[in-house]
Parts: sequence; C-alpha cells; structure tokens
Amino acid sequence: MRELSTVEQTRDFGERLAGLLRGGDLLVLTGPLGAGKTALTQGIGAGLGVLGAVTSPTFVIARVHRPDGARGGRVPLVHADAYRLGGAADPRAEIDDLDLDASIEEAVTVVEWGEGMVEQLADAHLRIRIDRRDDDTRVVELVPVGGDWSDRLASFSA
Ligand SMILES: Nc1ncnc2c1ncn2[C@@H]1O[C@H](COP(=O)(O)OP(=O)(O)O)[C@@H](O)[C@H]1O
Ligand SMILES: [Mg+2]
Repeated sequence: MRELSTVEQTRDFGERLAGLLRGGDLLVLTGPLGAGKTALTQGIGAGLGVLGAVTSPTFVIARVHRPDGARGGRVPLVHADAYRLGGAADPRAEIDDLDLDASIEEAVTVVEWGEGMVEQLADAHLRIRIDRRDDDTRVVELVPVGGDWSDRLASFSA
C-alpha cells in the first residue's frame, strides 16, 4: 500500500513501475471513476517511452502507443477500457480480436476496469487497485496474480 497525494506522485509511481515491465505483460487497474487509473497509465507510458498522449480510452475500445526509439522506448503500450470490452473473462483475447496494429504478446497491455469486474480474470496479471480517500489522497495497492509477478514485485520498492 502506498499513498499518492498528488496526480504528479501517481504519474511518477507509474513511471517507476514501468521499469519492471516487459512485452506480454497484462496490468489490470481497478478503482472508481476518477481514482487515477488513467493518470497512472500516463506515468507508465512515460516510463516505457511511448508516443502519443495517454488519455482516457472511454470512447475507443483500445489505443496503441508505439515506442519512441529516441526516448529508449522498446515496447508498445496497449491501453484499453474494460467497460468497452464488455467485461470479458479474458480481455486479452478480446483485445487481440480487435486487430490492433500491435501484438498482445509484444506489448504491455493496461486495462482499466471498474470495481468488482476483475475477479474472474484467471490469466497472470498485475492487479493495481487505486482508492480515493475522503481527503482526496489516493492509496495504491499492487496485487500479483499468477506468473512471476510476486518475484518481480519483490524487487520493486513502491
Ligand atoms: N493523487 C492523485 N492521483 C491521481 N489523480 C489525482 C490525484 N489527485 C487528484 N487527481 C485528479 O483525479 C483525476 C483522476 O482522473 P483519471 O486518472 O482519469 O481517473 P480514472 O481513470 O480512474 O477514472 C484527475 O483529474 C486528477 O488530476
Ligand atoms: Mg480512466
């Protein structure tokens, strides 16, 4: 659990988290509307060195951000909104079906989910839960699910 008092801290957290990521990763962000899921994804995009402004994918199903070689970017970022995906059991299969100009195997995929939609997801992923407190600070919790996420988180000082 970590406290994030400003949007800049949330972006910075995402930027540092990106150092842990590699192609094929699935990150699932949960939390209420306005929690900071998109802000965190902006930080991840900055850390990965991808092109294009990361904005809410609410009006598209998913958006691909290509790596910017000039900034050391190597993997694309796929940013999707689960409301648009219809809460499927395997969001990656559905994203793959979209025929995006990026392969899920190569990309870091970040899916924004609403609360209570993610429990059926069996595929290995890093779940990132953001909550908003009454004083407007955010609290973020990283939950490793399957794969080698536990080991990878052990080397990450949140
Ligand atoms: N500590 C914080 N972390 C993230 N966002 C914050 C924080 N404090 C205030 N905000 C504001 O809350 C909003 C979060 O929006 P957004 O990232 O789009 O949320 P979500 O994608 O979860 O709906 C932004 O307007 C942001 O400026
Ligand atoms: Mg959002």
